[in-house]
Amino acid sequence: MKRRLGVLASGGGSNLQALIDAARWPSYPAEIVAVVANVPGVTALSRAEAAGIPATVVDHRAFGTDRPAFEAEIDAVLRAADVELVALAGFMRVLTDRFVQAWNGRMVNIHPALLPSFKGLHTHARALEAGVAIHGCTVHWVSPGVDEGAILGQAAVPVAPDDTAESLGARVLEMEHRLYPACVALAASGRAILQDGRSLIDGAPGPLSLFWSPAVSP
Ligand code: GRF
Repeated sequence: MKRRLGVLASGGGSNLQALIDAARWPSYPAEIVAVVANVPGVTALSRAEAAGIPATVVDHRAFGTDRPAFEAEIDAVLRAADVELVALAGFMRVLTDRFVQAWNGRMVNIHPALLPSFKGLHTHARALEAGVAIHGCTVHWVSPGVDEGAILGQAAVPVAPDDTAESLGARVLEMEHRLYPACVALAASGRAILQDGRSLIDGAPGPLSLFWSPAVSP
């Protein structure tokens, strides 16, 4: 039985596309049954429609400052589709503790940095500014506190001397597209679980790790 996956997105949806592509494999342990976007007209919606996945807009602007009402609407869409696991894929709204608690242990996020470094926005520019040699991306269980939560997987990329935020971001995004489907598969199959605030894979602590190599680039 495949786990029923819901994906929340706000923009281009390239991570959503990576999940859609992975979920086409017959043995992939999740099927995407709902996509919710908080911005009308974004590419994530057309990617879902092209794949035949029900896509819903819940426009945060319609709710003003009433975040609980906005999230109740999202929650209703997810529950109506019998979603069991939620993947945030470039979802740019901060979620309330209440929503996070409701999906505790059943919601993951991808962040374009090696957490706990560079939480928040503009991660690639900040990594360059800090002069790091290694950058990357992190998949974590969503917990109260933005970009916090137990780490399920990380992928590392080298920083080149002539990198711009754009070139570095593109290298990280390539790894996001590998890391996210792998981590979602672990969560969907039950091999990865959140227990007492720790991420376990096959019963043991320690995240999945991937390393960028030119040899595996397309
Ligand atoms: C990704 O870098 C993701 O990690 C970040 O926002 C970007 C969204 O990309 N949260 P996409 O919408 O999946 O193409």
